Amino acid sequence: MITSSGGFDRLSVTWLKDQLYRWRVLAALVFSIPLNTRVLEKLEQQATAHPAGYKYLYLFNVHLFGVPLWEALIFWLIQGAATGEHDHQESNNFSKVIQERIEERKFRVSRGEIILRQKREVRAGHWLRTAKFQIHELQGLGPKTAIVLSLYVPGRKF
Ligand SMILES: [Fe+2]
Repeated sequence: MITSSGGFDRLSVTWLKDQLYRWRVLAALVFSIPLNTRVLEKLEQQATAHPAGYKYLYLFNVHLFGVPLWEALIFWLIQGAATGEHDHQESNNFSKVIQERIEERKFRVSRGEIILRQKREVRAGHWLRTAKFQIHELQGLGPKTAIVLSLYVPGRKF
């Protein structure tokens, strides 16, 4: 917003600073640029606790005319905490383990039953991909809290 004095108003400056900060965090996590550990600790304090036992925080949730374009979230999974089996609808998911390690489980559905298809351990620095409508589950393996960055393209429709 431009005020009558021609400068940005305080709200816009705050919004811009917040956006820049989010882009910096996202770039650091994607490209493995070292981040001050306090940055992730601070973000964890702002995260929402899910009843399943993990925490999540939206870095970005970008819509254009009501159409979800893409999302970026950070997840915190303590040892044993799992997301539960889920898909991402029509979104492609690219996730990177930022800290510690997780178990990724992939499933298929047969006659109304969810059947485990494969599982693997994914360590910090590694990516995983989940295709549209693919059912998966992530679980923190510990001992430290696992941190996962998740990108969704296009964004999910809730
Ligand atoms: Fe997922």
